[in-house]
Amino acid sequence: MKSTITYSEAYNLWNKYLQTPALRIHTRQSEMVMRKLATHFQADTQFWGIAGLLHDLDLDLIAHELHLHGYKTVEILRNEGYEIPQLFDAIIAHTEGLTQAKRQTDFDFILAAAENITGIITAYVLILPEKKVVGVKSSSIKKRLKQLRFAASVNRDFIYDIENKGITLDKFLDLAIEGISEIADEIGM
Ligand SMILES: [Fe+2]
Repeated sequence: MKSTITYSEAYNLWNKYLQTPALRIHTRQSEMVMRKLATHFQADTQFWGIAGLLHDLDLDLIAHELHLHGYKTVEILRNEGYEIPQLFDAIIAHTEGLTQAKRQTDFDFILAAAENITGIITAYVLILPEKKVVGVKSSSIKKRLKQLRFAASVNRDFIYDIENKGITLDKFLDLAIEGISEIADEIGM
């Protein structure tokens, strides 16, 4: 079993298992947010990016069986020859609420926040006349976070919990918008 994964290996797995366009966009966004956060935390940008890219790898396979979410991704990655505890733990932990999993490490909390913020930012961009992420202000996103009916499926607690992990909400939102903006053309927003 391999205890590390290269970006091209991760990208190939992503390409193989995730077909739904919205999921491909969401996971690429999550990757970019994680990369920005890794820079802030002086961590491994590539590894953090991979966690974002692969965290929902099972969603096309499990469809509505959400109790399998995360666990199935780990099964896929093991079958592909990987055993990477930090990655696997965070992938499972981000399903807290859907499964019995619980976020434990800082990395678990950061991945859960990163992937959730993409939902609010995307929903916000879609209501803009131009539907462009470049230039979106963190204050606008902050306001939408407080409107619980806006993008209601986004877990606000997971986002607010980031503030206990060494980054302010404002900085987190700035980095998230910045990260997603870098792939704006690719994801068509
Ligand atoms: Fe996700």
